[in-house]
Amino acid sequence: MARLANKVALITGAASGLGAECARAMAAEGAAVLLTDRDPAGQDVADAITAAGGRAAFAAHDVSSDQQWADAVRTCLARFGRLDILVNNAGISGGRHALADHDLEAWRQIMSINLDGVFLGLRHVGGVMAAQGSGSVINLSSILGKVGLANAAAYCASKGAVLMLTKAAAVEWAPLGIRVNSVHPGFIDTPMVQNALHQAENGNEMRDLLISAHPLGRFGVPREIADAVVFLASDEASFMAGAELVVDGGYTAQ
Ligand SMILES: NC(=O)c1ccc[n+]([C@@H]2O[C@H](COP(=O)([O-])OP(=O)(O)OC[C@H]3O[C@@H](n4cnc5c(N)ncnc54)[C@H](O)[C@@H]3O)[C@@H](O)[C@H]2O)c1
Repeated sequence: MARLANKVALITGAASGLGAECARAMAAEGAAVLLTDRDPAGQDVADAITAAGGRAAFAAHDVSSDQQWADAVRTCLARFGRLDILVNNAGISGGRHALADHDLEAWRQIMSINLDGVFLGLRHVGGVMAAQGSGSVINLSSILGKVGLANAAAYCASKGAVLMLTKAAAVEWAPLGIRVNSVHPGFIDTPMVQNALHQAENGNEMRDLLISAHPLGRFGVPREIADAVVFLASDEASFMAGAELVVDGGYTAQ
């Protein structure tokens, strides 16, 4: 029996990286998946899932827009009839900013996607899941929501806020049958990390330094995060609410 049979998932930021891998993994476990992203390339990921025998559709969606959240949830219900799983995955690194000269606009942009986007997602699915009496929300935070990194204050603040938003939602919604948990990846080999290293003046040096900060001695691969997300979405995690699932090759164990 597939682990997500008869479930419907909405995954944000599913055009690339971790979101795309979560969509493929959930579809392989039997879920119908609505992939959303502001990048239309998400359609190609959905088409590939369908071609492989899965159930998937794509909707254009900017997670910082209240209106586009309403549209995305409506699309999911119209297409698949219910909504059991929300993966709040869309996020940006926002680039490197020294705190003393951090541009306010850049700060607000990072917060509007990484934090407001998660808040809006929770708000828009809460009523649907409460009416069903069940649901699982997985919020992509980061190790950088638990430990700091220089020149990444807004990213760290946004991901730390996602950790606490998750716990507040988990406590409030557990009586409704809705489980809310966060996942905290270490550095994973995705376009986000590749682009950041590519743009850095000393990218090779940074890569070596970052790899050496993971006791397992490598970056993670997207499947290792998708496995954790599928677990939290499934009934195997039926007693998990407000948990911080760290998947970081030991980065924060030190
Ligand atoms: N890769 C890592 O090392 C790592 C580590 C910890 C946490 N994370 C988090 O995991 C999530 C996914 O990261 P990734 O590495 O796959 O990044 P990625 O850049 O490969 O993919 C992110 C996706 O989000 C989409 N997106 C960005 N802004 C959006 C918006 N406003 N509305 C809708 N979609 C939007 C992008 O178009 C892209 O498809 C992010 O929240 C990230 O912060 C990543």
